[in-house]
Amino acid sequence: MSTFLSEFKRTHMCGELRASDIGSTVTIMGWVAKHRDLGGMVFIDLRDRAGVAQLRFDPDEAPEISEQANRLRSEWCIAIRGEVVSRGENTNPDMPTGEVEVVPHTLEVFSSAKTPPFVIRDEPDAHEDLLLKYRYLDLRRRPLQEALLTRSKVNGITRQYLLENGFAEFETPVLTRSTPEGARDYLVPSRIHPGQFYALPQSPQIFKQLLMVSGFDRYFQIVKCFRDEDLRADRQPEFTQIDMELSFVTAEDVMEICEGLMSTIFQGVHGLDVEPPFERLTYHESMRRFGVDNPDLRYGLEIDDVSEDVANSDFRVFSATVENGGVVRGLRVENGDELFSRKDINGFEDLVKIYGAKGLAWVKVKEDDWSGPIAKFIGADERAAIASTMSAAPGDLLVFVADQEDVVCPALGNLRKEMARRLDLIDKSEFRFCWITDFPMFEYDKENDRLQAMHHPFTSPTVEDLERLDGDPLALNTQAYDLVLNGNEIGGGSIRIHSQDVQQKIFELLGMSEEEARAKFGFLLDALEYGTPPHGGIAFGVDRLIMLLTGADRIRQVIAFPKTTRAADLMAEAPSDIDDHQLRELHLKSTAKEKPKNQ
Ligand code: AMO
Ligand code: AMP
Repeated sequence: MSTFLSEFKRTHMCGELRASDIGSTVTIMGWVAKHRDLGGMVFIDLRDRAGVAQLRFDPDEAPEISEQANRLRSEWCIAIRGEVVSRGENTNPDMPTGEVEVVPHTLEVFSSAKTPPFVIRDEPDAHEDLLLKYRYLDLRRRPLQEALLTRSKVNGITRQYLLENGFAEFETPVLTRSTPEGARDYLVPSRIHPGQFYALPQSPQIFKQLLMVSGFDRYFQIVKCFRDEDLRADRQPEFTQIDMELSFVTAEDVMEICEGLMSTIFQGVHGLDVEPPFERLTYHESMRRFGVDNPDLRYGLEIDDVSEDVANSDFRVFSATVENGGVVRGLRVENGDELFSRKDINGFEDLVKIYGAKGLAWVKVKEDDWSGPIAKFIGADERAAIASTMSAAPGDLLVFVADQEDVVCPALGNLRKEMARRLDLIDKSEFRFCWITDFPMFEYDKENDRLQAMHHPFTSPTVEDLERLDGDPLALNTQAYDLVLNGNEIGGGSIRIHSQDVQQKIFELLGMSEEEARAKFGFLLDALEYGTPPHGGIAFGVDRLIMLLTGADRIRQVIAFPKTTRAADLMAEAPSDIDDHQLRELHLKSTAKEKPKNQ
C-alpha cells in the first residue's frame, strides 16, 4: 500500500498554501500541470481542485528526488512531502500561492498519464468536440472546475435557504407520463407493457401540484427535466430546475421568497448585494418598451411608439400600417449619425428582416434638417412630434419598423440587443433582475390555427379575469411571472388553477375535449375535486443561472457532462444502437433506414 495514503496523510490542498505555512512540512497530492527545467533546477506546478502549488527540485541539494522529478510528465498524478519555503524575490503576485514553493523530500507517483489529446489550460486550443470526447480531462481546466464548484455551492445555499423557509424536499418520478410544458417528450418503452411508453418529465409540474393537494404546504426539489427541443447556447435536452410549489400564497408571496433566494445566492457566491424588491414590468409593457419578454435592463435604448405621430404621414408605409391596425416604433441612437455608417444601417435592415420586418426606415437628425431616404416624406409637424416622442436631438440616428405588433416587437427587440452589443453599452459586472408579470393566458398558434397556453394550462387567470372566461380568450391575463436576469429568462411560474371547473374550461379553450383532457391529465383533474388549497410556484433554470453567475457564454460550460447541440454525449457515445435482442424484448422494431449519426 502507498506510504502516502497510509502514513503521510494529505495535510493541505495545493491551492491553499500561503506565506503563513513557510517552515512547515506538508503533504500534498495532485496532477502535474507544468514542468520546467531551468538550468538543472526543476520546477513543477502541482494542481488540485483548490489551485496550483509550485514544487522546486534542486539537483545539487537533493539529487535523487530531482532525478525522479525529471521523469514526471504532464497530468501524472503524484504525491509529495516537503518543506514550504519562501520564493523570496521570485514571488508571483498573480498566483494565490505565489509567495511560497515546496521543496519535496519524498515523492510518489500514483499513476502516470498518456500525453493528453490537448493541453489542459484555461483557454483551450482544441475543437469543442475533442474537449467533449475527453470531458474528464476538459474538466481539469480551471474555469470548468470553478463553474462546477459554484454550481455545487448554489445547490447548497438553495437547500439551506428553502429548508429554513419551511420547504421540504421531495423526489418525483422520472418514469412518468407527458407533462404540460409543450415540448416534445423523451420516451422510454415499457418491456412489461408491450407497445406502451413512459415519458420523461419536462418538469415535475403535476406532481408538485399533487403534493400541495396532499397538504405538504411547501415543496422544493433540485431536479432534472427532459425536453426534446431545438437546442441553443442556453438550452440542453436534460437540464436542472430548482423547482418549488407553495400553498396558501399569492404571486407576491412567491416572488418575495424568490427574491430572498436570489439575493442569498448572489451574496453567497459573489458577496454581492442584489437588493429586493426587483423591478417589475408587465408583459405588455416589456414588449412595448423592449420588444421581448426577457429584457436586458443593463442599458437603455428603449423602443418608442410613434404610431400616433405618423398616422397621417406622407410616407405611406407608416400611415398605411397604422390604418391597418399595425404600429410604427423606433429606436433612437444618441450620436448615431457618427457611430453608424450607411453600411451598418444596411446590416441592421438585414437583421430586422430575419424577424419578418419588410424594411428599416431611418433618418439622421441634423442641426436644421433631417437626412436619409424617408426624410423628404416627413413634414415639419410630424418631425416635431417624432422628435418629442423620441427625445431626438441633432446627431441622433432614428430607425423605424412599421408592421403588426408581432413583427415589430421581435424585430426591434433584437435590433436593440445588436446595437447595444456594437455600441458596447453592456456593463458585464452588473446583475439586473426583473420580474415580468401579467402574461396573457394564451397565444395564437398561426401554424395550427389554435390557441396555446403561454405558460402552461394550469396557470390561473387573474382574479378579475376569472369572471371573464367567456370573453375574448386572447385578452385573458394570468397570474404568471418570469424572473429575468440580464436578458435571460432564469425562472418562470404562476399561481395555479385550484378549481376543477376553471381547469376544465381552460382545456376547452385550448381545444381539448373532455376525453382528451381526462386522458392526459385525468389524475390531476380528479385530485382537484378533493379539497385543493390555493397554490402556486416557480422553477428556476439552474444551468442558466450558473452560466450567468460565472460569466460562461454557453450552458455546456456549467454542466459536468453536457450534450452537443445535436443532443449527443460524445464521451459516453449516447445515444447508441441497441441490439436486436433488446429491441425484441421491448417489443420494438426500428424503421430508421440508416444508422443514426451520433453527433
Ligand atoms: P418553464 O418551462 O418556464 O417552467 O421552465 C422553468 C425554467 O427552466 C429553464 N429551462 C431550461 N434550461 C435549460 N435548457 C432548457 N431546455 C430549458 N427549458 C427551460 C428556464 C426556465 O425559466 N413547470 C414550470 C414551472 C412552474 O410553473 O412552476 C416550468 O417548467 O430558465
Ligand atoms: P421603399 O419605399 O420600399 O424603397 O422603402 C423606403 C425605406 O423604407 C427603406 O429604407 C425601407 O427599408 C423602409 N421600409 C420599407 N418598409 C418598411 C416597413 N414596413 N417598416 C419600416 N421601414 C420600411
